[in-house]
Amino acid sequence: MGHNPGMTTGVTPKQDQISGLYTHFIGGHRTHADGSPDLVRNNPAASDEVLGRFRSADIELVHEAVRNAAQAWPKWRNTPAPSRGRILLEAARLMDKHREELARLISLEEGKALKDSRGEVQRSINITEFMSGEGRRFGGYTSGSESATKFAFTTRQPLGVVACITPWNFPLAIPAWKIAPALVAGNAVILKPASATPASAVRLAELYQEAGLPDGILNVLAARGGPAAEALLDAEEVRAVSLTGSTATGRHVAARCAQRGVAVQAELGGKNAAIVLADADLDLATAGIVDGAFGSTGQRCTATSRTIVVESVADALLDRIVAKARQLTVGPGVDETTDIGPAVTAEQRDTVLHYLDVGRAEGAAEVFSGELGSLPSGHWLAPTVFDRVQPSMRVAKEEIFGPVLSVIRVPDADAAFEAANAVEYGLAASVYTRDVRSIFQFVDRVDVGMAHVNQPTLGGEVHLPFGGVKASGIGPHEQGREAIDFFTRVKTVYINFA
Ligand code: UN1
Repeated sequence: MGHNPGMTTGVTPKQDQISGLYTHFIGGHRTHADGSPDLVRNNPAASDEVLGRFRSADIELVHEAVRNAAQAWPKWRNTPAPSRGRILLEAARLMDKHREELARLISLEEGKALKDSRGEVQRSINITEFMSGEGRRFGGYTSGSESATKFAFTTRQPLGVVACITPWNFPLAIPAWKIAPALVAGNAVILKPASATPASAVRLAELYQEAGLPDGILNVLAARGGPAAEALLDAEEVRAVSLTGSTATGRHVAARCAQRGVAVQAELGGKNAAIVLADADLDLATAGIVDGAFGSTGQRCTATSRTIVVESVADALLDRIVAKARQLTVGPGVDETTDIGPAVTAEQRDTVLHYLDVGRAEGAAEVFSGELGSLPSGHWLAPTVFDRVQPSMRVAKEEIFGPVLSVIRVPDADAAFEAANAVEYGLAASVYTRDVRSIFQFVDRVDVGMAHVNQPTLGGEVHLPFGGVKASGIGPHEQGREAIDFFTRVKTVYINFA
């Protein structure tokens, strides 16, 4: 069937076009699994509306996809890297051409506000464009030999079939940033998107196919965790697994793959702190913290979940945060005026509501809880701020993944850095200060993979590595030039010309 020519540029996709994307994509075709639908996706902003329904992948379909990829792979492996890169560049162009359609699709299926979805599309374009250039830089290095008549060099080779397992919160960008390095490095990919949000991933695969990617090199299989997902991890042909998800899932996958000696790259949870020191520009800090805590409904691993503030400026900062949070509008992601879309699922909303109860029971002061206007039935959450949170409380330590900010007051910068490290996670952190000593102390001491100064804890630029330490990551980081390393192996070559 191939790509869907009915999808037009710049408009909200029609319901039948959307429902058609709730499927698998194997060997260059939309593929349905046998059996009645067991995955039904409702619009998170209008929960009585069905976006699509389909049968999740079973073990047989997983094996079929892996076989298909393994058969298609040799030709792709032997396609020169610059030619592979050219296909990525064309895929980036197609994403650009369809940017508004993709943004609306993301907002519909995931729920996030259009402005966040548009940012996500841009990021998907950026990583694909960047990785296309890696096709022309692909290779190793030469090195002088100990012998005058030997020549030594390294070369990089693709692994074969790789699996990319992605979450629901960035249904386009995370697939885009995992598959771009995998593909340009010459691998065939089985992408397993979250079962709640497969449509953006299927659309992405279709755009790649339209860009000239051979059939079978990028396959999309939506399956729940369980036997089908395990079959993907266990498939003999699968040589590496890149995953984004919870710490528990990442550790399970890493342990399982270790039994076969298969490498795992896992990007996991976060409990990111924005630190505000006594000399900070409080307006700048407020803007970054409100964006970081409530943007994308707090459903991102780099969300600002904690604010650690020096007592002398805590009241002034909190007043500003509450005033700004009050201006946020909760509503359907596809409305231009929306700042905060719904939670992705009822289950996710209930998890966040449970944490609000936990925070109150632990004695945190709920100083702000946003208004929910009259909204259709959806998984709505109001932005919430807890003040006087103690580092020992669960709302200070556990990843909530919702629009909830915990404020921790500390006496000084040293105590702030210590509190920042007092969690099991280590993804991102930021500091607001103008003091150069404090900036370098923060960079030196805070245990994270990404440190931000005078800007939010959020995101990153695609040409730099992205990832965390401690419970936030396993294996090498994603994105940046380093991303290619994970998806290739190095061969060292000695040539004796005596
Ligand atoms: C971002 O926060 O901008 O799952 C990207 C996540 C991360 C990606 C976050 N892996 O939220």
